[in-house]
Amino acid sequence: MKGLSILLFLHLFFSSITCFVHRDQFPPDFLFGTSTSSFQIEGAYLEGNKSLSNWDVFSHIPGKIEDGSNADVADNHYHLYMEDIELMHSLGVNSYRFSISWSRILPRGRFGEINSVGIEFYNNLIDALLLKGIQPFVTLSHYDIPQELEDRYGAWLSSQIQEDFGYYAEVCFKAFGDRVKYWSTFNEPNIMVSVGYLSGTFPPARCSKPFGDCLSGDSEIEPYIAAHYVILCHATAVDIYRKRYQVKQGGSIGIVMSTSWYEPLRNIPTDRSAAQRYLAFDIAWFLDPIIYGDYPPEMREILGSRLPTFSSEDRTKLQNKLDFIGINHYSSLYVKDCMFFPCQSNASEGDRFAMSTGERDGIPIGTPTAMTGLYVVPHGMEKIVMYMMERYNNTPMFVTENGYPQQSSPDVPDLLNDRQRVEYLRSYLASLNVAMRQGADVRGYFIWSIIDNFEWLNGYSLRFGLYYVDYDTLKRSPKLSARWYKRFLEGSKISKDLSGGRPHS
Ligand code: NOJ
Repeated sequence: MKGLSILLFLHLFFSSITCFVHRDQFPPDFLFGTSTSSFQIEGAYLEGNKSLSNWDVFSHIPGKIEDGSNADVADNHYHLYMEDIELMHSLGVNSYRFSISWSRILPRGRFGEINSVGIEFYNNLIDALLLKGIQPFVTLSHYDIPQELEDRYGAWLSSQIQEDFGYYAEVCFKAFGDRVKYWSTFNEPNIMVSVGYLSGTFPPARCSKPFGDCLSGDSEIEPYIAAHYVILCHATAVDIYRKRYQVKQGGSIGIVMSTSWYEPLRNIPTDRSAAQRYLAFDIAWFLDPIIYGDYPPEMREILGSRLPTFSSEDRTKLQNKLDFIGINHYSSLYVKDCMFFPCQSNASEGDRFAMSTGERDGIPIGTPTAMTGLYVVPHGMEKIVMYMMERYNNTPMFVTENGYPQQSSPDVPDLLNDRQRVEYLRSYLASLNVAMRQGADVRGYFIWSIIDNFEWLNGYSLRFGLYYVDYDTLKRSPKLSARWYKRFLEGSKISKDLSGGRPHS
């Protein structure tokens, strides 16, 4: 009996330690912020001389977006940005990650004029953030690109894109770099090329059977070509920044990857190496070339000549081409080997000779959420950060996205009382802290997202915001999670309190 109570006490003690998280556990200059992207929040899709982006065009095709919506208005952040900055300021964040809409700055890419109205919008946004003590953390490309570049030469499938991307990046460094100290070239290029050219579910909707159902494309080749040019575009932008701006402006530049954690399904060597292979195909695909100058051996072995090659000039250009790694992390999955034991992987996983699943013996890896494949697995945060630390020599890292989806519903009080999100964020932050205590050089953490917004193929049916958005009135209302983040950032000793009363207004 006594032994049992000791065990129970120890269990409670350790679980409270792992769940407990406090602002003081992070360095004073740690960036705490929220994240968004231009297409998902701005709206004003044809205002201020902006041109159509690939996503404007795609989201207007009937049947593409689950709830039949588009982002013509979205959160109308283009007009309401001052209000949104006020929300961030009231939370007490010291940074804000957002992306610039390429179509606002260069509506016709390098084939037209620089749009001064677009420059002015971001100047106003940046100045207003800085006035409130909020550091801008800026992404150049978050899935959207001027449609004209797609129509003219096939965007990421053409080497011409390097000239366009370099030009766009330089316009931004020149216009905003005196005030922006954190730049990311790309958001989740690994997702962008997979869904754009393998499954074809995102624009430009290119793929071949059995990987997807598209009008044209080649799922076995094009994702690798697009990735190749994205990597070279990244290197071009970093070169420009380092040679002409970095010393004068004193900022840093990196890239943001989508990173899930993968656990072996069974504790056997083949599943363990399948999980490693999965990570290489997801992450090292981009980061190995950018840091070490070439594709990971795990991919080369399987893909052979299907993987493009870097010239020796490219390789020299690539080495050490970033100052930080951005980690978007939400969830984890199990991985099963299909190399030695044939198994039923999805078409899109074919090249990996592995399949992922959210369940082991019918038991989910973590509590499922409203988004398919997104489970609550806090320890995945520690694991993925440690993986990055080990594979990339502890390059400085920022967790550029972490967040929790809710299914939209008419029950607004329920959506405002987002206890599951609070629990998710707190447990993931605690896990991040465990990695940092093991030496991981993590310098910031951003919640996706400050406000509910346009969630790509899911439209407005999923809500990630700390603030609820009423899409009829565009009114923003704080959820319990906003209140929790504010208290956490204040260093409140009661950050473990879940009850928290009603969200503040
Ligand atoms: C990843 C993407 O960067 C962002 O655009 C998306 O809304 C969130 N994760 C949630 O799915």
